[in-house]
Amino acid sequence: MSLLAETESIVKQFEFTDNDVNKSVKEFLRQMDEGLEKDGTSLSQIPTYVTGVPKGTEKGLYMAVDLGGTNFRVCSVKLNGDTTFNITSDKVAVPKELMRAKKAEELFAFLALQIKKFLEKHHGDHFEAHIRRRMTVSSPDGYRDEHVFHMGFTFSFPVQQVGINKGTLIRWTKGFDIPDAIGKDVCALLQTEIDKLHLPVKVAALVNDTVGTLMAYSYTSPGSHGAVLGAIFGTGTNGAYVEKLSNLKKPLVGEYDTSTGDMVINIEWGSFDNQLNVLPNTPWDEALDKETPNPGIQMYEKRVSGMFLGELLRLVIIDLMKNPNVSLFRDENSSTNDRRSTTDIAETSDLYKPWGIDTSILSHAAGDHTPKLSVLRDTLQENLQISAPAYEDAQAFKAIAGAIGRRAARLAAVAIGAVVLKSGRLSDGTNDPIDVGVDGSLVENYPYFEDMIYEALRVIDGIGEEGAKRIRIGLAQDGSGVGAALIALVARTMEKNAPTDEVLGELRTEAKAAGSKDTAAATTAVSDESDKPGVTSA
Ligand code: BGC
Repeated sequence: MSLLAETESIVKQFEFTDNDVNKSVKEFLRQMDEGLEKDGTSLSQIPTYVTGVPKGTEKGLYMAVDLGGTNFRVCSVKLNGDTTFNITSDKVAVPKELMRAKKAEELFAFLALQIKKFLEKHHGDHFEAHIRRRMTVSSPDGYRDEHVFHMGFTFSFPVQQVGINKGTLIRWTKGFDIPDAIGKDVCALLQTEIDKLHLPVKVAALVNDTVGTLMAYSYTSPGSHGAVLGAIFGTGTNGAYVEKLSNLKKPLVGEYDTSTGDMVINIEWGSFDNQLNVLPNTPWDEALDKETPNPGIQMYEKRVSGMFLGELLRLVIIDLMKNPNVSLFRDENSSTNDRRSTTDIAETSDLYKPWGIDTSILSHAAGDHTPKLSVLRDTLQENLQISAPAYEDAQAFKAIAGAIGRRAARLAAVAIGAVVLKSGRLSDGTNDPIDVGVDGSLVENYPYFEDMIYEALRVIDGIGEEGAKRIRIGLAQDGSGVGAALIALVARTMEKNAPTDEVLGELRTEAKAAGSKDTAAATTAVSDESDKPGVTSA
């Protein structure tokens, strides 16, 4: 079989037809309902204890930290109360050895240390004042609550939440593996390490990144309804949506506000259809699953998210290179290579290393429309040490990478489509936009990912052309920072046992006192060292 024919046959195996999309949407809706009824289901449908989405008028200075995958991010967020915010943030890579540390403490001590460094760097005055106060005041803790930063902790792994700042880790995903942490309250783990360093920080809220995205999107682009879904398509994938409390049949243990009649649910859709009722399953999907620390789990995520697509592509390419009937990255002599050379792959090439290919190469492949695919060929040379790849090689690589990316986007549409259908908004008698906030490297960087999602949304029964037009997918960058800050604010209001308005009133006074010097548009990075943290009631 020629390389072209073999490539076509592989591409076919990654096809996810309109019929497959529709079957999967039905199954997604079924698994969503199942998850609302009982624990231990494929879709965990985790209640977050957040009972509403913001209006855009919230104000105050809060901290947020984000442990999501590759990086740990620390930020302070000033919510300006007019749908804008200012954010100051620092990011560090999480050392690989800490992702698989023996004791949870090792990872959480590292996180607390980054918070200390951030406070020293960006909120030095406040930090110094706190240290001075600790030495002078006589309260048992050494400081008064109003001087403490209230912090939202974005922890983007499946957690069984039992309160707004309490939740036990169900399982690790995205390559983390610290068994000691399973079943432990991750907020308590972080607070313990923060306290060891005597930092003026209280872990006030536990936030999944999708919940943060939902909140941030509702804050920055408030419509009459708020966003229906916050979704991440990055290293991992997941979504959070607003559900009627009356539909939530499984018991809730913690306290929450019932006045809105709603609760934000963290779907944990990375584990959609672990049983493979409808998910596609090629031999390469199977091989990839076996390589992971959690085989049989996060089966949807392993077909959709950035952590896995590069490896999936690598496995297919290696298989194709081993096929004696085709020549991929192999020339008989220089005359069969349009660069008049012969292709050579360095022995140390990342192509030969498990997890050696970064998903960004799929984006390069999809984005290269040059007549001879010269951009992709240069990328193969630079990133994978494949010298003089021929045009035919690049064509095969592009076609296979494209098929994997397209399948991921169509699967992404399954989850988005199901949640939109579940919201009932398509039959609300209006023509208003239905907002979906998204974030993550795939939606941000993969060319045409969103277009491919829309293409699939249009074929879903109950959505169609007209419905798809109403669905407005928008990028909600900084969801983990702003969203977490917003939830820390909500938590603060609950804790004070004060009506939201009263606390917001205090925040307004505080913001007035701080002046209106920093009213730059959202996402502008500035330092706000003069502002006091959280809610100042003194
Ligand atoms: C985690 C989710 C998270 C998602 C996106 C998944 O692996 O299980 O909690 O929201 O990644 O970061």
